[in-house]
This record gives sequence, C-alpha cells and structure tokens, in this order.
Amino acid sequence: VCIRQATVDDLLAMQSCNLMCLPENYQMKYYLYHILSWPQLLYVAEDYNKKIVGYVLAKMEEESTDCHGHITSLAVLRTHRKLGLATKLMSAAQRAMVEVFGAEYVSLHVRKSNRAAFHLYTETLGYRINDIEAKYYADSEDAYDMRKILKPKQ
Ligand code: ACO
Repeated sequence: VCIRQATVDDLLAMQSCNLMCLPENYQMKYYLYHILSWPQLLYVAEDYNKKIVGYVLAKMEEESTDCHGHITSLAVLRTHRKLGLATKLMSAAQRAMVEVFGAEYVSLHVRKSNRAAFHLYTETLGYRINDIEAKYYADSEDAYDMRKILKPKQ
C-alpha cells in the first residue's frame, strides 16, 4: 500500500470510501472545493491493485489572528485497518500544513464514542482535547474538538 497526494481522479473513490466508513458524508462539490483550494492536503492510500483503501481530506482555516489546518475527514477501509495507514495519511497532511501553509496547529472533531480514532489522535499523534462541542453531530452525539501544535519548519 502506498500513500500519495490525491488527484481529481481519486475523488469518487475517496467519496465511496467515506460512505462505507462514516455517517458524515459530503457532496462531490465539497471534495472539489478542498482539492482546488488546498491540493497539497489531500492524500490517499492505494493498494497494489490501484484500489483506494483510505484517505484524508484536510483544509486550511486562515483567519486574521491565526493560521491553522483542519482535518475534515479521515477513513481507512475495514480490510486495511491497524496497518498504520491512518497514521501515515495524517502525518502527510500535517507535514504539508506546516511546509506549504505555515500552519501553527491542526484541529479536528471526533465523536466521543469513537475509541479507535480517539486512540489514534491522542496516543499515536499527540492531539489534546481543546473543547467539547455538545450535540455537534446530526444524531446529537457530542464531539471532542481536538488540537495538536505543529512544529515550524526548520
Ligand atoms: N481500537 C483501539 N485502538 C485502535 C483501533 C481500535 N479499533 N484502531 C486503531 N487503533 C490504534 C492502533 O492500534 C494504533 O495505535 P498504536 O500507534 O499505539 O499502535 C493507532 O490507533 C493508529 O492506527 P492506524 O493503523 O494508523 O489506524 P487505521 O489505519 O486502522 O485507521 C481509523 C484508524 C481511521 C480511525 C479507522 O479505524 C477508520 O477508518 N474508522 C472509521 C472512520 C473514522 O472513525 N474516521 C475518523 C473520524 S474523525 C475525522 O474524520 C476527523
């Protein structure tokens, strides 16, 4: 399995991976908005048969006071989990946030009940809980608003 930057030709496969893995789904125009605005922040995991088995969709939030990255969505197909792919996809996006856009930190939302993703973010990647957003999701579940400080490029 290889990790590489996504192209427009990958967006349908990314959307289908998202539909299989998460209840938070997006219209194709939202994927297009990401890749046209921040092409360096979309990565896919591709297996030996050229099948897309995971993706990360990320963006920049450029406000007047700070400049930070945001992970919109991350997923790996069930058949390819626990191989370190999500860790690699996240690391690639985080690195580009710093090197291309000078991001100071990266943020994301995750369901309180999502133990696998919470473990990945806290234990493997070093995110911390910044806040709790009550009833953030459509089914009223709360979200952890998480952040990780990024090291400036040397
Ligand atoms: N339970 C406990 N820990 C787990 C689990 C699990 N089910 N799955 C992974 N982990 C741990 C791994 O053991 C590993 O820990 P380690 O570094 O101590 O060994 C760490 O998390 C990273 O594992 P990876 O292999 O890199 O993660 P993987 O490729 O399996 O993908 C993911 C993790 C993305 C959460 C996957 O389970 C998935 O796609 N889930 C459904 C979609 C989802 O929840 N996406 C995130 C939503 S939040 C958002 O999109 C911003």
